[in-house]
Amino acid sequence: MKILVLNGPNLNLLGTREPEIYGFETLADIEAEMNGVASQLGADVEIEFRQSNSEADLITWAGASRGVFDGIIINPAALTHTSLGLSDALKAVADAVPAVEVHLSNTHKREAIRHTSLTASACIGQIMGFQGFGYTLALRALVKRLKG
Ligand code: DQA
Repeated sequence: MKILVLNGPNLNLLGTREPEIYGFETLADIEAEMNGVASQLGADVEIEFRQSNSEADLITWAGASRGVFDGIIINPAALTHTSLGLSDALKAVADAVPAVEVHLSNTHKREAIRHTSLTASACIGQIMGFQGFGYTLALRALVKRLKG
């Protein structure tokens, strides 16, 4: 079972980026935790972890996931609130590659512009507010859904 983990703009800066909101973990720390949980969940569970500051990369990666990946975990970062294109790409593959949306912060406690997610309606569920720990929660939830 192959899970694609996508991270949007500025998440490469985790660790030093507004740590009071996003925590002190780096994206590499989160990737390592996910790999640890993936191996607990089964020898067949594999993750591929990617980050880009480019909307085009994320749209292309999500759209190309059919037939290659079994599921997606995505933190679209600021694109959550702006990208109909990313939402459309996730919807285009949702029948074969279900997605879970993750946010480090609880976006509903923040500025009004962050209260809307264009991508959430393309996903089976959303986990937010638990900083980096949310990624492993999303992995457990997605693998449970995929294994039935
Ligand atoms: C974020 C929340 C977004 O509003 C913000 O633009 C991010 C990170 C989060 O993980 O809390 O870059 O997706």
